[in-house]
Amino acid sequence: MDSIIIEGGIPLEGKINISGAKNSCLALMTCAILTNSPLKLTNVPNLSDITTMSLLLKSLGLEVAHGEGDRKVTLRAKIITNSKADYNIVRKMRASFLVLGPLLAREGFAQVSLPGGCAIGARAVDLHLKALQKLGANLDLEKGYVIASAPTGLVGAEINFPIKSVGATENTIMAATLAKGKTTIRNAAREPEIEDLIECLNKMGAKITGQGTSILEIEGQQSLNGTCHEVISDRIEFGTYLLAGVITKGKIILVGVNDIHSKEFLDKVKEMGVNYTYTPEGLKVDCSDSQLKPISIITEPFPGFPTDLQAQMMATMSLVNGTSEIDERIFENRFMHVPELNRMGANIKLEGTRATINGVDKLIGAPVMATDLRASVALIIAGLAAQGKSVINRVYHLDRGYEEIENKLAKCGARIKRVVS
Ligand code: EPZ
Repeated sequence: MDSIIIEGGIPLEGKINISGAKNSCLALMTCAILTNSPLKLTNVPNLSDITTMSLLLKSLGLEVAHGEGDRKVTLRAKIITNSKADYNIVRKMRASFLVLGPLLAREGFAQVSLPGGCAIGARAVDLHLKALQKLGANLDLEKGYVIASAPTGLVGAEINFPIKSVGATENTIMAATLAKGKTTIRNAAREPEIEDLIECLNKMGAKITGQGTSILEIEGQQSLNGTCHEVISDRIEFGTYLLAGVITKGKIILVGVNDIHSKEFLDKVKEMGVNYTYTPEGLKVDCSDSQLKPISIITEPFPGFPTDLQAQMMATMSLVNGTSEIDERIFENRFMHVPELNRMGANIKLEGTRATINGVDKLIGAPVMATDLRASVALIIAGLAAQGKSVINRVYHLDRGYEEIENKLAKCGARIKRVVS
């Protein structure tokens, strides 16, 4: 398993290009199931999760052609030759479950492995299943698979989600695009990735209104067409690298950012004392002489503070004088980075969903273990600021969500390298 070695303590200086959003691209790729015409996506990030999704879609019979190096992919579901999403793929990537709604809508049948839990929580799918049942699907659970059928097609319905779920909203929207009649979804998640999905579906001929709000209305169509769609920029990658600039007291320009997707995050870093400006090249952060202040954060569904930036913010807070607080309200076990940060000298205490971060003067490099995608990048951020050498193991987590992370950071002066083992 590869590891990443960092000699910390160097302020980052330079430009970082933000890639296309992983969590948008994964959902957009499954849209291709809804039509027998080509769907072309651009600004596609070069990530292992994208490769996994390509493999899954090919196993269903789709043609998937990645443009060499130019971040494009063309997908075409002329016919679906297999409606079974195998456990060995789904267990590696929860987003695989997003093929359920489209397969059911297109074929009237789907057999998708339950994703199972992961490091950050049980990751239930009950909201997905209840919504699809409301749309008329018959569901059975057999040997760890969801067997879903709608032999006479799905029918529009009123769906009220008890809590906001990104994936359940996405699966339901996609299923409803080919249902007979109108579907209304209440308490829909509103993440920018969902707006991007709706944008693409409407370009494919879907009739979805309420984009950007929690009440969506979908008029089912007989069929959808192909289209060409550019994936939005990755707001989580953006926030991650911004915080890398903050913690190292550097000066960086983040290129290709859509800051309207990051309002709450930017409000919080401003409250912390980070100054940023907009330049023709991108969003510029200069933290060379920032005096940072402790803040409190609660993770919430969009437009609240994103849970996917919680670990990275915690790493940054660990060097801010005073006492900061984080309340993780989305996932039940998203603090695995805490013991590793404490091994680097951080002073973080946990009580239920709350973390109390008492700022320390310095972090000391150490060998640390990554457990999930965002925890692993929080350790990278801490290693960039720590004194001495850090070795982050199990970096395959990183490759799922951060394109060429060591190259992007090395171009800004970080002493970072990957050791292939
Ligand atoms: C998406 O996961 C993202 N993944 C996650 O990003 C992100 O953390 C999460 O949304 C929250 O923003 C992708 O988009 C591929 P949810 P998702 O359904 O859809 C509970 C990353 O690091 N829930 O919004 O799986 C669930 O357990 C990843 O890029 C149910 O109880 O998240 C959680 O507590 C990590 N039943 C809460 O809802 C359900 O049927 C929110 O989960 C579904 C969810």
